[in-house]
Amino acid sequence: MKVFKTKTEIDYAIKLLKSDNITIGLVPTMGALHVGHLSLIKRGLKENDIVVVSIFVNPTQFDNTDDLAKYPRTIARDIELLKIVSTDKILVYTPSVEDIYGNDVLASKFDFDGLEFEMEGRFRNGHFDGVGTIVKRFFEIVKPNKAYFGEKDFQQLQIIKKLVVKHQLPVIVVGCEIYRDSNGLAMSSRNERLSLQYRQEAPFIYKTLQTAKSKFGTKSANKVSEWVTREFAKNKILNLEYFSIAETETLKPAGRKSNKKKYRAFIAVYAGEIRLIDNLALN
Ligand code: PAJ
Repeated sequence: MKVFKTKTEIDYAIKLLKSDNITIGLVPTMGALHVGHLSLIKRGLKENDIVVVSIFVNPTQFDNTDDLAKYPRTIARDIELLKIVSTDKILVYTPSVEDIYGNDVLASKFDFDGLEFEMEGRFRNGHFDGVGTIVKRFFEIVKPNKAYFGEKDFQQLQIIKKLVVKHQLPVIVVGCEIYRDSNGLAMSSRNERLSLQYRQEAPFIYKTLQTAKSKFGTKSANKVSEWVTREFAKNKILNLEYFSIAETETLKPAGRKSNKKKYRAFIAVYAGEIRLIDNLALN
C-alpha cells in the first residue's frame, strides 16, 4: 500500500495517474477508521479506478483544544485496516500540519449561503471555515473525479456541495448513508473514547430520533422538539446540546410543515466530555 506523507510526493503520483486517465475517488478522513469510513471507501472503489484516503486531523476545524489533543490517532492500525480492503487500489495521504498549512495554521473564510450558521455552526465556532479550507485544499491536491462524504455529518455534506458549486470545483460530491452499529449507534471515531456506561447508553440517541420521526407524522416540529428535550431531561447520563428539525436543503428550522419540503432531525449530545452527533431523514 502506498502511503504519501508530503504534498510533493502525492503531486507526482497524481500527475502520473491523470496522464493515464485513471479515475480518482477521494475519501477525506481524520483517521481512527471504522466501518463507517470503510463503507465510503468501498463505494469509491466501485465507482473509480483508485481511491485516495486522506488521514489528517485538521486543527483549524476544532474549536476546542482539548478535543483536538484527545482526538484518536491510530495511523498504523488505520493502514492495516485499509490493507484488508485493497492493497493496490487505495493510496493513503497522511500529511503533517506543516505540509498543509506551512507556518500559518489558519482557516480561510467562506460564505456557504447561511448553511454554516445553523446547528453545528452555532455550537462550534469557525468549524465550517476549517472544514471548507481543508476539503478545498485536498480537492486541489488530489484532483479527484468524485469525493465521498457521509450523511453522518449531514450539514458538512451540504456545505461541501455548496463549496463545489460556489467555487466551481471540478468534482462530483457523493453523499453516503450513515453506517450504524447493530444497536443503532452511528459509527464515529469518537465512540472509541466512550466508557462502558456511556457506550451502553449512547443508542438512546438513535432510539429517540426514531420516535421523533414517528411523532413528526402527526405533531409539529416544535411539539416533537419539546418531547425530545423532556426525554433527555429524564436521562441522567446523556446531555442534550441541541435537537432541531430542519429543512433538508436550507437546514433552516422547520416552520409550518409543507408536503413539498423534505425534513431531517438533527441532534448533538454530550456523553461526559465526548460530543456525539446524529441525524435522521423524516420524510
Ligand atoms: P471524519 O469524522 O473522520 O469522517 C470522514 C468521513 O466519514 C466524513 O464524510 C463522515 O461523514 C464519514 N463518516 C463518519 N462516520 C460515518 C458513519 N457512521 N457512516 C457514514 N459515514 C461516516 O468528517 C471529517 O472526518 C472531517 O470533517 C473531514 C471531512 C475529513 C475534514 O477534515
